[in-house]
This record gives sequence, structure tokens and C-alpha cells, in this order.
Amino acid sequence: MGKYYITTPIYYVNASPHIGHAYTQIAVDALSRYRKMTGDNVFFLTGTDEHGEKIEQASREAGFKRGDEKKFVDGITDNFRKAWSGMGIEYDKFIRTTDEQHKTSVQDLVSRIKDNGDIYEGEYDGWFCTPCGTFWSAKQSEDGLCPDCKRPLEKIKEKNYFFSMGKYRDWLIEYINNNPDFIMPEFRKNEVLGFLREELGDLCISRPKTRSPWGIELPFDKEYVVYVWFDALTNYISGPVASGVFEEMWPPDVHVIAKDILRHHAVYWPIMLKSAGFELPRTIFAHGWWKMGGEKMSKSRGNIADPIALASKYGVDAVRYFVLKAVSFGMDGVFSEEALVSTYNSDLANDLGNLLNRTLTMVDKYFGGVAPAAPLDPGDADQAERSFETLMRYVPLLAPEIHSCMTSPELRLKEALESIMDLVGRANKYIEESAPWTHAKKGNTKAIELIIADLLEVLMTVAVSIYPFMPDTSKRMWSQLGLGGTPDTTREVSDPDTGLEGGHGVRRAFSPGTRVSKGEPLFMRVKEETAS
Ligand code: MSP
Repeated sequence: MGKYYITTPIYYVNASPHIGHAYTQIAVDALSRYRKMTGDNVFFLTGTDEHGEKIEQASREAGFKRGDEKKFVDGITDNFRKAWSGMGIEYDKFIRTTDEQHKTSVQDLVSRIKDNGDIYEGEYDGWFCTPCGTFWSAKQSEDGLCPDCKRPLEKIKEKNYFFSMGKYRDWLIEYINNNPDFIMPEFRKNEVLGFLREELGDLCISRPKTRSPWGIELPFDKEYVVYVWFDALTNYISGPVASGVFEEMWPPDVHVIAKDILRHHAVYWPIMLKSAGFELPRTIFAHGWWKMGGEKMSKSRGNIADPIALASKYGVDAVRYFVLKAVSFGMDGVFSEEALVSTYNSDLANDLGNLLNRTLTMVDKYFGGVAPAAPLDPGDADQAERSFETLMRYVPLLAPEIHSCMTSPELRLKEALESIMDLVGRANKYIEESAPWTHAKKGNTKAIELIIADLLEVLMTVAVSIYPFMPDTSKRMWSQLGLGGTPDTTREVSDPDTGLEGGHGVRRAFSPGTRVSKGEPLFMRVKEETAS
């Protein structure tokens, strides 16, 4: 049992949450729930990024006067909280960069860096992208457009404060090379190293209040506010400080982000921490983008999918399942409602939902709704014996496989889900191959007992395993299986050292005599044309 401190980015409050934001949340929620299940002391931090010119502009556009930005952000930050609770996201702390504790932490961090001699005064003469909140050198902005978002840049020339980032370049390269899990996936590490091969300039970390006062004051010059990225990154410190768990939780175990903010997290942030004397995060994991119409999904491009609308149409768990199963974590994905519906029908309605439904129907039909024991001597059960080869020996392998996926630095969420669905597929095949109804005709009760006991054991294992990904479905399965307690607190599943011994030489967690309670199908098939 260890500690596990995991974060999402904090989201800009100038837009409502879309499926791209929800993706990070869902992935981090699944990882966090998994760690909680396995007994780790987990701290899951998320929040909103509320300062900077971009937000100030949005506030103005929404009709708020200068000075009333806080009122504007108060309204929007709640949209994020509501969206996350609607998506079943159980974070431990929601940090806002307008929180008092956050301001103190930012000023404290800036002061430490200054005291270390890494902040100096100079003149900024270059380009700035207001929507991205990023400074660009003349070389980087040759065409007058932001290299990231391709929108026009603003030319600025003014006195500012700079962070001596450049001098840490060699140290950072060495650190990345010596810590293979620091930037994940591997190809992102190479991308950062490629970027560091070029000269690393110093970073302008102030904005004069005359341009935009909406930010946190520099502790040593009241005429300036802190550059929004310096402010935002510090949330990873202020979050646990505000919750009183900093000592216990630092350093972060994993920062999950999307690839567009890799440079900020894998270059600026470690250098800031190094200069201020903090231990570095263990892993920075950059996932890919959800795209629609060939482009990154974003408010400015207007190509967004609303996770809450999708959840109310198909259920929260279907959305969670789809986004995690559709792409290997780290790669880009193309979002379409048609693809969601097709996955929903095949994996969730046909495979998972059906397995539960047909098993419980058989428990009702053959055993009056009461789970049979797995006979040690199954009698004439040749068919069942043969199919066992393809089912029961996989049951005890599932938990270790999921453990390896969820705890590897590669965060193999898709593969974890695939291994669960693989067992579900095998169980459905087992029903076809062992054909319990033929045993029923022959009056071979022992064979049916064995088959049903096997299926119930698989279903219990699946219910526990899918909890981090689809918590609601897991609980619904649990209750239909008639089990006590909760799936996330059940440890004995598939543990070869516990449980009752039964047929097929497997120790079983599912207690014979349990009264099952078949309910509504877990997932109702939807017509493919329902997707709009
Ligand atoms: N506020 C900064 C982050 C500061 S973290 C110290 C920011 N905010 S953001 O709202 O623009 O986006 C943040 C994150 O949203 C991305 O890193 C990613 O986690 C998620 N995504 C936003 N659009 C996305 C897609 N289209 N696809 C996948 N994830 C995306 O940047």
C-alpha cells in the first residue's frame, strides 16, 4: 500500500467542458478508483484555471465589467463541478486559481525562485498569443501566427520579469534521460528531448497590470501579475496544501495532460520545481486529442461533443467505456456518436449485458433464483469440461493482468478493458459450447450446476474488475447478482488462496445459496440511426 497523487490539468473557464476535457477526467477517475480499491492512499486533484487575459476577455464578452471577473468565473467553475459529478468523477480536491490558498502558494513559489537568483528584470520584445497565453520568439512566430493555435499573435515590448530557464537545459536533458518513466508515452519523451536540442530561452513570467490586472500579484513588484502558466502549474502544490496533505502526498505520482500542454509540464514545471527546491513528479503522461472533422475538438473550432448530453442519451458508463476503449491511451482518437453507439451495442448490450441477463435467467429457470454450488464431481459434463479449458483458467489471471495495466507507467487503460471484455467473450462462448439446455433435457443437473457456478464466478469477477471504469454498471451487476457489500471493497475475487473449493479445481468467491435478483438489462440496445 502506498500513496498515489494524481492530477488532471485545470481547465480554462472560458468554455464549457467537452468530451476532450471529460476524457482526461474519466481516465484519471478510473486510475484513482483502481488505486483506492487496491488500498492506496489516493489524492486526485482537479480544478479550474481562472486568471489571465483570455479569461478577462471572456468575462468582458459575457457582459461583466472590469473588476467583476470573479463573478464571471464563479458562475463557470460550477459548470465544471456539475459536469464532473454528472460523469461520475470522484476527485478529492477541486482547486481554483482564485482560491486564497492558491494565491499564497504561487507567491511563495515565485519568491523561492527569486531567492534562488533565477528571476531577473528585463525588456520583453516579442510575440504573445492571448488565446493560448504563450509568449513566442520572433523566430518561432515567423508568419505572425501562433505556432500552436495558428491565430494572429500580438507584438509586445515592455519591462517584465524573466525566469532563467535556459541555464537548466542540460540538467533537464540529463534528468529525462536518467528517469525513463518521467515523460510518457516514450515517443513524447523523445519529442521533448528533440525540443530541448534547440536552445532553451528564458521565460517571461510577468504581465504588467496596465495590460491585464486579472491575476496574482508578483510578490516583489505590485505593478505586475504572474504569467498565467506559472500561476496555473502551481495548483499542483496549492491543491494538496489546501487539503492539508502536502507532506503526505508530494511529489505527484502522475500528471495526466493532453499533448498540447506537454512543453509547459515537461519543461517549465520541472525547472520551476528544481529552482524552488521541490522534488519532481514521477510521471507526466500526455494523452492524445479527440478530434472531430479532422481537427482537435475545441470551442474555438466549434467542433465539440457534449459529454453530459451524450451521457443522458446513452448513460454515463457507456461514455466512459467508449472513450477509454476506443484508443490506446496516448494516441489521438476520432470522435463520432455512430462509433459510440456501435461499441455500446456490441460490447455493452450484446456481450456484457447479455451475459448477465442470460446467466440470471438460467439461475431462475433451473435453480429457482438460488445460486448452485459447483459440484466437485460434475458427473457427465464432458462438454462443460472441455469449455472449462477456455474459461475458468482465465479467471484468476484477470486481476493480475489489470493490475499490471493500471500500474504500469504506460497507463494501459484500453488494454485493461480489453482483458475484461475478453473474459466476458469467453463466458458467452462457454454458454454456447456447454449448452446447458441440452444438459437440462438429459436431466444432468450436476453439469448445469457447474456451468452456472462458473458463470456466476466470472460475473462477480467482471463486476469487481469494471468498477474503476464503469462504477454504476459494476454496482448494478453486484445487486443483480445478489451480492452483499460493494464491488470496490471485495478483495477475495479470483484470489486462489481464498474462497470455497469447487468443480474445475477453482476456489470460488461466489457463495452458493446466494439468491440472485435479475433486473432491467444493463444496456438496452439502441438503434444505430439514433446517433445524430
Ligand atoms: N488551463 C490549461 C491547463 C493548465 S494545467 C496546469 C489548459 N486548459 S484547457 O482547458 O485548454 O485544456 C486542458 C486540457 O483539456 C488538456 O490538456 C486536455 O487534458 C483536455 N483537452 C482539451 N481538449 C482536448 C481534446 N480535444 N482532446 C483531448 N483532450 C483535450 O490548457
